[in-house]
Amino acid sequence: MVWKGFEEEDMTRDYHVLSAGCGDLRNTVLTAGSLPGRYQGKLHITLDDFDPFVMARNVLFLYMLVRFADTEGIESSLTTIWYSVHITKKEYDLIKTSLDELIQMDAQNLHAATKGFVSVLDADLKNLSQVWEKWKSLECQKAKRKSIRLGQQRKTLLDREKEGVSLYLRRLSPEDQKPMFEWFDHGNFFPSERSKSTLPFDNPTMTGRGGVDCTPFFSQANYVNSPKDFTFVYCIKASSFPFVAWDCLRVREYTQRPCTSPMVMYHNYVTNLLKRVKNPTLQGRFFIHIFLTNCLTFPDCHSSLHMLNYDRIFTSNLSDYVGIAKLLQTFKPLLNRKNSKSVTVTETINWLEIVPGADHSKIPDAVTQCIITNFADTQKLKSDFGYNDSREYFNNISRFLVYLRADIMGGGLGMPSLKNVPSLSTVMNYNGMQMRDFRKELNRVVPFKYRTNVRGLNPVNGFERVVEWCLPDTDC
Ligand SMILES: C[S@@+](CC[C@H](N)C(=O)[O-])C[C@H]1O[C@@H](n2cnc3c(N)ncnc32)[C@H](O)[C@@H]1O
Repeated sequence: MVWKGFEEEDMTRDYHVLSAGCGDLRNTVLTAGSLPGRYQGKLHITLDDFDPFVMARNVLFLYMLVRFADTEGIESSLTTIWYSVHITKKEYDLIKTSLDELIQMDAQNLHAATKGFVSVLDADLKNLSQVWEKWKSLECQKAKRKSIRLGQQRKTLLDREKEGVSLYLRRLSPEDQKPMFEWFDHGNFFPSERSKSTLPFDNPTMTGRGGVDCTPFFSQANYVNSPKDFTFVYCIKASSFPFVAWDCLRVREYTQRPCTSPMVMYHNYVTNLLKRVKNPTLQGRFFIHIFLTNCLTFPDCHSSLHMLNYDRIFTSNLSDYVGIAKLLQTFKPLLNRKNSKSVTVTETINWLEIVPGADHSKIPDAVTQCIITNFADTQKLKSDFGYNDSREYFNNISRFLVYLRADIMGGGLGMPSLKNVPSLSTVMNYNGMQMRDFRKELNRVVPFKYRTNVRGLNPVNGFERVVEWCLPDTDC
């Protein structure tokens, strides 16, 4: 979340944000790291994800930020541990010490050790501890015979995505191509160029459930086994690469001096955000509440713990798995009615593949037409680049409206479908919520869609669409 359009009086009040299906800490770091300097309130972020591997990593990082707050360069080390396959002894020792300590803790100890920054339920902590135990037990010293050989594991995983990687590399500018090609090969992520010999350890936090379970199914069935029952292997999905996660335009905006490579540029950017996150954290103005539960049952936890309602509710692209109707029904009661700007955000990625006429690559002549318009706009001739760069020149808004109506008609998990196709105005007022009309005004929290062809290093596909839903009769 980026803090734009806030009034002076907003600078002193507290905010509560829920991220359902939160994934990694990217959005949390961006939200807290972009708080305006003059913001004096308290920020509470609730993170909910049913994946213990993802959450174990999140809690480890949050713990390290506070535990090593006085260690010179901790933010830079955290960025490295976040994204680098191989690490130095210093970083490995930071991980090892933190795991040793976390494994001993109950929820109360963790809360106290982080000065109230991180709250986790004891039952969830038990699951997370299993992941930490496994990471601790892995042999990560590369020179050892029984080492996990993470680089080799990553190579095997990337080989399965060869075509996508090669298409991505072809799309890049000639100056970015070489360092990105090298990055796919070595997977290291440091604030300066490093030679292999200075990185004697593999990064255990990049391992988790593997084998057939490596592909996440978005149902809790995937997690019926305890984390300790899985074989831990390299498990970082392509969608979690730094160059996918962070908006290339923002990174470039932040970068003042030329960098030797995109890795160095992105490393500096993330490290700077982490530095900015540390201030409100140490001042006791930033709090994280962790839940390892299915987002659809999260409201029960929220109510039994008497938690406050939220000014913002983000739902990732969970609507692709449970339907918009189910999300609106689940989360409407959790929105803060006292804030006229409270909003729930839904996102879809899969819609483009299911709505006929939405994907320009399946419509005769549309691609050629879009490539011509793209050229007129950018003066760059793009050939052999796949369809993504031209996709944004195809107006598929009317198809998106069809999708919204069909999705609402379909109901959702455990919700009956409607008998008739709802009108657009029914959709826009579904379940007593007010949809912001993206045709008439800009979204205020997350853009309806990103412009793809200006985001050089981001492998964007142009599928994502984001809709904002407010409470009725508010001026959000
Ligand atoms: C929805 S996924 C999407 C990630 C990315 N946008 C993509 O499509 O690959 C983001 C996170 O949601 C979590 N997740 C999926 N379904 C969930 C549910 N019902 N409750 C809680 N978390 C869920 C997953 O574990 C994952 O970490």
